[in-house]
Amino acid sequence: MRLIVKQLDGTETEVTGRLNWTVMELIRDAGLPMRAECGGSCACATCHVYIDQDWMEKVGGRNDEESYTLDGAFNVQDNSRLSCQITFKPELDGLSMTLTKDATG
Ligand code: FES
Repeated sequence: MRLIVKQLDGTETEVTGRLNWTVMELIRDAGLPMRAECGGSCACATCHVYIDQDWMEKVGGRNDEESYTLDGAFNVQDNSRLSCQITFKPELDGLSMTLTKDATG
């Protein structure tokens, strides 16, 4: 299983998917830029990613706490999610997303 993680400069990296890890943890463990300053407590928005539109339905919507925290992020789009709030599962094999400046610094 894998994730496709893109950066704003167009670099694309394949990251190993591990069940029940959060997407933020998978990206960070792969050594990609991921500030995630609150460590996954849904309090900082520095794990903000743009989910590819094709994947939005499978990933699902934001929870209330996530929506509140995303209010403090930059350039929020309809496909914005906090990657610490997405738990990897088999249905997300191949999930593709782009890191935002909030996440990369
Ligand atoms: S790591 Fe802080 S909100 Fe996701």
